[in-house]
Amino acid sequence: MPRHAWRLLAIGSAVVLAAAAIGAIAHGPVPLHSWAIHPIASFMLARGENPYPARLVRPSTAPLSAMAELGRLIFFDPGLSSSGRLACASCHSPEHAYGPSGAASVMAGGPVLSRQGVRAVPSLMYLERQPNFSIGPDDAENETVDLFQQAARGRDAPRAQKTATDSKASAANLVPQGGLFWDGRADTLQQQALLPLLSPFEMDGGGIETVAAKLQRASHAPRFAQLFGSKVFDTPQLALAEALFAVARYQIEEPSFHPYTSKYDYWLEGRARLSPAELRGYLLFNDPVKANCGECHVDTPTADGLPPLFTDHQFESLGVPRNPALTANNDPAYYDLGICGPLRTDMAQQTQYCGMFRTPSLRNVATRRVFFHNGVYRSLEQVLDFYDFRDIEPERIYPRRADGTIDKFDDLPPRYHANIDVTDPPFDRKPGDAPAMSAADERDIIAFLQTLTDCYQLDR
Ligand code: HEC
Ligand code: HEC
Repeated sequence: MPRHAWRLLAIGSAVVLAAAAIGAIAHGPVPLHSWAIHPIASFMLARGENPYPARLVRPSTAPLSAMAELGRLIFFDPGLSSSGRLACASCHSPEHAYGPSGAASVMAGGPVLSRQGVRAVPSLMYLERQPNFSIGPDDAENETVDLFQQAARGRDAPRAQKTATDSKASAANLVPQGGLFWDGRADTLQQQALLPLLSPFEMDGGGIETVAAKLQRASHAPRFAQLFGSKVFDTPQLALAEALFAVARYQIEEPSFHPYTSKYDYWLEGRARLSPAELRGYLLFNDPVKANCGECHVDTPTADGLPPLFTDHQFESLGVPRNPALTANNDPAYYDLGICGPLRTDMAQQTQYCGMFRTPSLRNVATRRVFFHNGVYRSLEQVLDFYDFRDIEPERIYPRRADGTIDKFDDLPPRYHANIDVTDPPFDRKPGDAPAMSAADERDIIAFLQTLTDCYQLDR
């Protein structure tokens, strides 16, 4: 094809994409062909401006309560760990979006910091809106049945395809959603904090009594007694529960856990312009037949004007490759199956969810140096290649077996391969198909992901 013809094609598809994006912003999902693009809107978009600015509602900020202040002291206190060297902040570094500071796949804990963890450290930002773990649609009917009844319904229901233009299909999916941790095994920040405190490969705090005794000896003990009464230390369980409550309050009240100050937030409000590369990346991110990222990593504000979290909170099995850097993986029989174990135990029988992990928020993702639940990737380029080539050139993603065949989905036993998402674009392809993204598309999407980093300086 002559060069100018390619060009025309590219411009043509850019217009369709622009129309798609504007349609999505202005009216919610509409079938592609029915989008009519207003000339002024397309002119603004071409200049990197948001033609339909939104009013974003951010959490109100106030000085920390006494409870949250105490939580802050505990969050930074290494004294509660058996090594005396690990605080919450050691793994969830405030300078790194409350995620890991380095590029190690996982962090080490235990008495001499030699026990390797099995999962990448997630960011603690933007968890204030994390819903509880449930299976199925968010409706009143679903709330009256327990998790196991929900799971049984989910097993029998057909799975709808998710595309960036059809959010109704995904809402109807009876899939697990919400909860904290990669496997959703805790619901509240308070519940959750007990696990790292006691986990032998994290802070390894010993038993509840041991941690409570350390709280009683800590320099912040007087504040503790002030808030909860001097008898609080008589009941170790009570002291620990209050400490965990304080840490949770800190994460909820401290503004740096949820500032919503990225360039993209300001663009949504019409206060910043995207560069041509960022804008192309944004449109590709929302292209329902290609990259389709926005279907799972939702980038539109809620109906109430809450800024987007870049996750639909649902669980998916993407078939991420096994990470040979994890000591646990030296055992060929060891698999991290996400929802169905081994860290989570209540869903072990629900094998239809084996291999599923929670879709993480992509806010501040460009500040991370380790990606996916097992930390197998070290750069966004590698992550984008995974999405692009998993199905069309699996030999670029997975190792070969001894007989030379490709060990596709090598981190999940074959009996669970049926759980892996092979329907949602970009995962709907097969060898020989055109890639969902070109190398330039990948670069543009990464440029867009970089607009999700907080503390963007608006020039006034
Ligand atoms: C040794 C490193 C380490 C330490 C110390 C640590 N964490 Fe974590 N944290 C992790 C890892 C790894 C995960 C993910 C574990 C999983 O999904 O199973 C996690 C998950 C979490 C989550 C859930 C995040 C999400 O996206 O669902 C919260 C909240 C959290 N930690 C808070 C804390 C608090 C509070 C402390 C201190 C009491 C703490 N962490 C100490 C490594 C650590
Ligand atoms: C079908 C839903 C789905 C689609 C589509 C999707 N993702 Fe994801 N994404 C996930 C899930 C689930 C995970 C976590 C998987 C895991 O760790 O096993 C994830 C993880 C990630 C991560 C790692 C984040 C971290 O903190 O480790 C990045 C980056 C990412 N996705 C970017 C993208 C981009 C860019 C696209 C479009 C090319 C995309 N995703 C499309 C569901 C999806």
